[in-house]
Amino acid sequence: MLYTQEASKLVVKGDLPAGSVTWQSPSNIALIKYWGKHGDQLPNNPSLSLTLKNAYTQSTLIYAPRDAPTGGVAMSFLFDGQPMPAFQERIEQYLNRLTPIFPFIEQYQLDIRSRNSFPHSSGIASSASAMSALALCLCSMEHELFNTLEENNSFRRKASHVARLGSGSACRSIYSKAALWGKTGLVENSSDEYAVPMGEGIRITLDDFRDAILIISSRPKATSSSLGHQMMDTHPFAAARYEAARKNLLHLIEALRKGDLDHMAMICEHEALSLHALLISSQPDILLLQPNTIKVIQLVREFRRTTGNPVFFSIDAGPNLHLLYPGSAAEEVENFVTGVLAEYCEEGAWINDGVGPGPVQL
Ligand code: DP6
Repeated sequence: MLYTQEASKLVVKGDLPAGSVTWQSPSNIALIKYWGKHGDQLPNNPSLSLTLKNAYTQSTLIYAPRDAPTGGVAMSFLFDGQPMPAFQERIEQYLNRLTPIFPFIEQYQLDIRSRNSFPHSSGIASSASAMSALALCLCSMEHELFNTLEENNSFRRKASHVARLGSGSACRSIYSKAALWGKTGLVENSSDEYAVPMGEGIRITLDDFRDAILIISSRPKATSSSLGHQMMDTHPFAAARYEAARKNLLHLIEALRKGDLDHMAMICEHEALSLHALLISSQPDILLLQPNTIKVIQLVREFRRTTGNPVFFSIDAGPNLHLLYPGSAAEEVENFVTGVLAEYCEEGAWINDGVGPGPVQL
C-alpha cells in the first residue's frame, strides 16, 4: 500500500501535543462513472467528476493524547451534535484500516464532529464529502505533528489516496473544479490509487458551471453502492462496460478540451443511462429510476430541443437528477426548474449547486 513504508517515522515520541483541525469538503458528480472495483478500492475504469460547491461536509477532528493506548483507535463521532451509530462504526473501521499509514492515530483519542450543508436524508450521497473531509483532517493532523505535508500536491495526493480507502468517489472531491481517478494513457500522472486535478486545459468555463440537483426521492437507497459495485464482478456486460467507459472518457476529455458542450452533454447522458442499464440488468436487478426521473429526463430533452439551452443531466446510483448547464443559461434553466420540474421533485425540493473551488481548511 502507498505511504506505509515511510509511516514508521510517524509516531510521536515524548510529549503528545493536542490539537484540532477542521475541513470543509464538497461532494462531486461523476460524468464518467466509477462502477465496479477490485482489490483495495481500486477502480475497474477511470472516472471523471465535477467538484461541487454548496453540497459539502464540515468535519472537525479533535485529538488528545490517550493515557494508555491499547491497540486499535479510540474515537467518537457526532453528526449534527448527535450520535450516529451506523456511521460511527464505518468510521471506526476505516480509521483502524488507516493505522499502517497513520500509526500516530493510535496514540490519540480522536473525536470527530461532522455536519452536512444538505439535509442528511435528501437522497444525496454524502460519503464523498464526508470521507474526503475526514481524510483531509487526518493529513492536516499528520502535518501539524510531523511537518511532513505542505499544502501542495503531496498533501492533496495523500488526502485523495486516503479518501479513496474510505469511499472510492471521495478521492475525486479533493480538487477544485474537476478530477480524474484511474490510470489512463490520456492523462499524465493519472493513477488508480488517487485522483488528479483536471480543471486545467479545458475550454468549457467550469468555474461558472451549474448543477441543479433535483430531489425526486429522499428515501435512503435499498441497495448500497458497495453492493452494486460487487454485482459488477459477475455482471455479464462488465467487460463491455469497462471498455465503453474508457471510450466515453476519451470523447469527454476531447469535448472538454475543445469546448464542445453538445458533445459533452451527449456523453454524460449516455454514461448516466448506461449506469442504470447495468443496475437494471444486474441479478438481482437494482431498479432505482422512478417514474418522475423519466418524466424529468423527457422534459429536459424537450426543453433543450425547443429553447437551444445547453442543459443536460447526470444521475448517480439513485433516482435523483443532476441538471448541468453553463452559467450563461442559468436564468432560463432555473426558471424552468422552479416553473416546471419542481413539480416532479419530492416536495418541490432541489439544491442549487455548481462547480466549486474544492475543499477549504477552516
Ligand atoms: C454511482 O464511491 O459510493 O456515484 O467506493 O463503495 O464507497 P464505494 O462507492 P461509491 O460509488 C459511487 C458510484 C457512483 C459513480 C461515481 O461517483 O463515480
